[in-house]
Amino acid sequence: MRERAQRQGIFVSFEGIDGSGKSTQARALAECLRTEGRDVVLTREPGGAAGAEEIRRLLVEGNPERWSAETEILLFNAARRDHLEKTILPALDAGKIVITDRFADSTRVYQGAARASLRPLVDKLHALVIGLEPDLTFLIDMEPAAALARGLARKSGEDRFEDLGLGFQQALRAGFLELAQANPARICQIDGARPMADISAQIAQIMRAWLDRPAP
Ligand code: TMP
Repeated sequence: MRERAQRQGIFVSFEGIDGSGKSTQARALAECLRTEGRDVVLTREPGGAAGAEEIRRLLVEGNPERWSAETEILLFNAARRDHLEKTILPALDAGKIVITDRFADSTRVYQGAARASLRPLVDKLHALVIGLEPDLTFLIDMEPAAALARGLARKSGEDRFEDLGLGFQQALRAGFLELAQANPARICQIDGARPMADISAQIAQIMRAWLDRPAP
């Protein structure tokens, strides 16, 4: 894989527990940047490319115990690699802003932190087959009971992870907050318990400041 410095585009991710509102915010940021005339690719994980979307169905539908944790990590990485090859890298090479609804932080937290001691496996696989981090990550933080009620109310048929319950979502929230503390330069923690428009405005402001920052 080529070095990051050679790429022209900007890679932004949205993260958060299920029902946190991150998908709405990812869409709002994409629209806002497009209005300003920027070339934006809005994508998601698992998915974001034809093959990766097929793998998504294996991951988000069905019984919560369907896969072992190890198999699940491999499937997420297979989907991410396809997404990277087919969607993310071509767009970054073309100088676009890529906004993804979830990326590797989700695997670190859902598979690595919330499920025992699998984080070393998650990190090794990421280094071996992905090796890319977002330039900027928005973590939409939210109280799990409120977020879970919102997520399950959608009845999307993709509730395999939501079905693991409130305790699991609480562990996820703690995992995301820990990641944000460990990566303050990349991850912006956003309070998700406010009106959607206020959150979007804050995110747009942070993004603009980031785009206007002096070259390193
Ligand atoms: P979504 O609801 O944001 O579309 O994500 C689908 C589910 O997949 C969600 O419950 C989180 C889960 N997930 C992981 O467990 N690990 C990952 O690496 C990703 C990208 C998602």
